[in-house]
Amino acid sequence: MSTEPITRRDFIASVGLAAAAGALGSAGVAQEPPARKVRMGIVGGGFGAGFHWHEDPGCEVAAVSDLLPDRLQNLVNRYGCQKTYGALEELIQDDTIEAVAVFSGAPDHVRHCTAVMNRGKHCLSAVPAGLTLEECEELIDAKARNNVKYMMAETSYYRFPTITMRRMVEDGSFGEILYCEAEYYHPEIGTAANDLSRWPDKEGNWQRTWRWGFPPMLYPTHSTGFLVGVTRERLVEVSCLGTPGQTEAFQDNAYNSPLANASALFKTNRGNMFRCNVMWDVWAHGERAQWFGESTALLMDGWAGQPYTLRTADGKAIQQGPDYFQLLPEKMRYDTGHGGSHPFITHEFIQAILEDREPAINVYEAVAMTAPGIVAHNSALRGGEQLKVPNFDPA
Ligand SMILES: NC(=O)c1ccc[n+]([C@@H]2O[C@H](COP(=O)([O-])OP(=O)(O)OC[C@H]3O[C@@H](n4cnc5c(N)ncnc54)[C@H](O)[C@@H]3O)[C@@H](O)[C@H]2O)c1
Repeated sequence: MSTEPITRRDFIASVGLAAAAGALGSAGVAQEPPARKVRMGIVGGGFGAGFHWHEDPGCEVAAVSDLLPDRLQNLVNRYGCQKTYGALEELIQDDTIEAVAVFSGAPDHVRHCTAVMNRGKHCLSAVPAGLTLEECEELIDAKARNNVKYMMAETSYYRFPTITMRRMVEDGSFGEILYCEAEYYHPEIGTAANDLSRWPDKEGNWQRTWRWGFPPMLYPTHSTGFLVGVTRERLVEVSCLGTPGQTEAFQDNAYNSPLANASALFKTNRGNMFRCNVMWDVWAHGERAQWFGESTALLMDGWAGQPYTLRTADGKAIQQGPDYFQLLPEKMRYDTGHGGSHPFITHEFIQAILEDREPAINVYEAVAMTAPGIVAHNSALRGGEQLKVPNFDPA
């Protein structure tokens, strides 16, 4: 087999970029200044302070909010917005705000997003969409009832190899994905002594955060997004195994779960297999996938040194993938984390509102990435029992 490197320019020349990217507006790049700006409210100054709302030509950051003063300051600093609210519940009373990005902790997402949508505002939510099947239903109902846009901010969806895979599936050059492996490893969660699962309060006492003992399969979207986000197929059955965590977080937590690592094998509605890992307690880091077809395979590069390889039927091994930054407005073409995905998420949500269309990761796609993990977690608690995943799509 030959190894033929391909340059970024060669690859881009042969790619239908707008289609590959996952919506992002009809032309991909906003050529003309938009007719108006969406007035956004941003909630949550941790992860939420790493997006590009102030740089999107179709967006104006109208207000920011966090319960914690230092987190609120992060938002003011990043987005240059001086209008602040002490809580989401106050921000959503502001009638001049059209849409809200919710970057609160995972257990709050459905409550917060439902409150946003019930005020008639469009809503972007950090992952996961929800933590129970009932919450998934509630979210879908709130979106439909209020006739607003909802998008989930799944970063794996806009990693460049995922965009490449979407393009190849769409134009037929990959064929059917017969087997996919995806993984999300994050060893700092709930394991290390000074981890993200607890933080000191004003008096310096350690308080548990929502990440304390958080069940790995309730955070599945960075893995499921690599398949659902490429083919839009649905995960219909699962058997999942889990191993317990060794720290206190996994002996006593709000989720009654001992699990720190989980590995699920799903069957898809196209009859294919999907191996999906989420682990907090292994020496590995990051989000990664491998997609296998009958005569094509794409293996993402990874933290442990795995190289990017697109192996084609004619024996070529393409070892450099393209980036897709040219799909974005110029100011937004830089990487703020998670494989360059943040500006794409920002721009797609804004474009969907301006063009009055559903965003790429709409509420059904969000739930199709989230609910399978909820069922997988139940399977793991039952020793790997094979369980069916309910379908939430419209009839
Ligand atoms: N790659 C990814 O997609 C990715 C990466 C990191 C985090 N996340 C997600 O983003 C979200 C935020 O992550 P994080 O690490 O910043 O979490 P975090 O728990 O550190 O921060 C959440 C923030 O929300 C604020 N908040 C909670 N309730 C609020 C309210 N009612 N009004 C205003 N502010 C409120 C909190 O004060 C806190 O600052 C999480 O849901 C997480 O799952 C996703």
